[in-house]
Amino acid sequence: MDKGFKFISECIDLNHDGLGVFKINDMTVFASNALVGEKCQLEIEKVNSNYCTAKVIKTLNSSPNRVKPICKHFMDCGGCDIMHLNYQSQLAFKEKMGIETLKRIGHIQNVNSLGIVGMKNPYYYRNKVQVPFSKINNKTICGFYRKNTHFIIPFDECYIQTNESNDIIKFIKNLANEYHIDGYVENNKQGILRHVLIRKNCQEEYMIILVVKRDQLNNEKEIVEKIIKRYPYVKSILINVQEKDSNVILGEKTRIIYGKDELIDDILGYKFVLSHKSFFQVNHEQTENLYKIVREFADLKESDILLDAYCGVGTIGITLSKFCQKVYGIEIVPQAIANAKENSKINNVNNIEFYLGAAEEVIQKLDVHFNCAVFDPPRKGCDQVFLNTIMNKNIDKLVYVSCNVATLARDLNILSEKYEIKKLKFVDMFPHSADVETVCLLAKLN
Ligand SMILES: C[S@@+](CC[C@H](N)C(=O)[O-])C[C@H]1O[C@@H](n2cnc3c(N)ncnc32)[C@H](O)[C@@H]1O
Repeated sequence: MDKGFKFISECIDLNHDGLGVFKINDMTVFASNALVGEKCQLEIEKVNSNYCTAKVIKTLNSSPNRVKPICKHFMDCGGCDIMHLNYQSQLAFKEKMGIETLKRIGHIQNVNSLGIVGMKNPYYYRNKVQVPFSKINNKTICGFYRKNTHFIIPFDECYIQTNESNDIIKFIKNLANEYHIDGYVENNKQGILRHVLIRKNCQEEYMIILVVKRDQLNNEKEIVEKIIKRYPYVKSILINVQEKDSNVILGEKTRIIYGKDELIDDILGYKFVLSHKSFFQVNHEQTENLYKIVREFADLKESDILLDAYCGVGTIGITLSKFCQKVYGIEIVPQAIANAKENSKINNVNNIEFYLGAAEEVIQKLDVHFNCAVFDPPRKGCDQVFLNTIMNKNIDKLVYVSCNVATLARDLNILSEKYEIKKLKFVDMFPHSADVETVCLLAKLN
């Protein structure tokens, strides 16, 4: 099969990225903007050794589950994957994809899912956005990366972030043009402003982080004054310097130009201080639902000793602290651990201790018998040393929280030597993307 080859075929499935799956002559072909049951005319764009990618030229019959995406940039932007699928079908797709991945990668035969928790209104949910800036035709622009590229598509509005965030971003872009602050151009490494990050809490207070190539922002004072005059709910503005040419957005150096490096959010009745570098779940409503499931699965007793590994600013451990005797939290980011310690103080939680370091190293030094361990690692999953140490510690039950079902499946396969899956539930933390959050309860094998 060659590039440019045209054919008609029916979409038989969606893959883990939300791409339509087609078969022709035993070759698998992936194409965006196709739904199961739709007959499409396709044109091959790229030929790989065991699959091809194609573009849909024409859809010959529309799926009953297809909807017109609310966002006009959906087809180009790399932010959302399945906005063309109605929300109920998005939820069904995520649960099915999660179960199939656990079977395929984790070799887990009987996956009994307790379902997926969706949102009442799956829009405007993100409390954190990061928008790339650049310069085109002598103007500073901002937008989102085109799917799988670093080409920026200017945007007017994004439907998964708040209207206020959309507005603040546009205002900063206009200020950048007014004060001749050039957006950073990756190709020739010219310009200053690389990204604008915005975080918000549930009281609708905002933090803005201007990520720059060099720490020289023209008219810094006027910019701060204009932002806070127009948006009084902006509580802090920071400058972060990223000199390196890498995909990592934030650099090491940060300077506060207004307010403090903190935002205080509320989760399940507890207050959480977070700084610009601390991880915090991006969807407030679904975070509360996720933590309620963790609480139910952990089913702690007053005498229990709990491990909260990969604890971030201490959210899971602190919300569970009143149900057990003692909690130990481990986290690798120093600012997050500083926030976690402060969070235990402001919530009057006295039965929790936090350790700074890699979970795989700290866990080996902790001479504690845990009754239950919760772990919520980043997308790459847990380190094998961490999993082996957990298995040697003979802990009765584990609650694994994951934002990447493929690495969860890999890790569950390792843990299956000593643990069996008791419960599994999905949470739609990222509506319109193909990702899903999973909570899994494991019990020690007899
Ligand atoms: C998905 S977040 C979960 C944080 C927290 N449980 C929450 O719900 O907000 C993963 C966290 O693991 C931390 N992390 C990454 N690698 C780590 C490691 N090797 N050891 C300990 N923490 C790590 C990250 O900094 C991040 O805070």
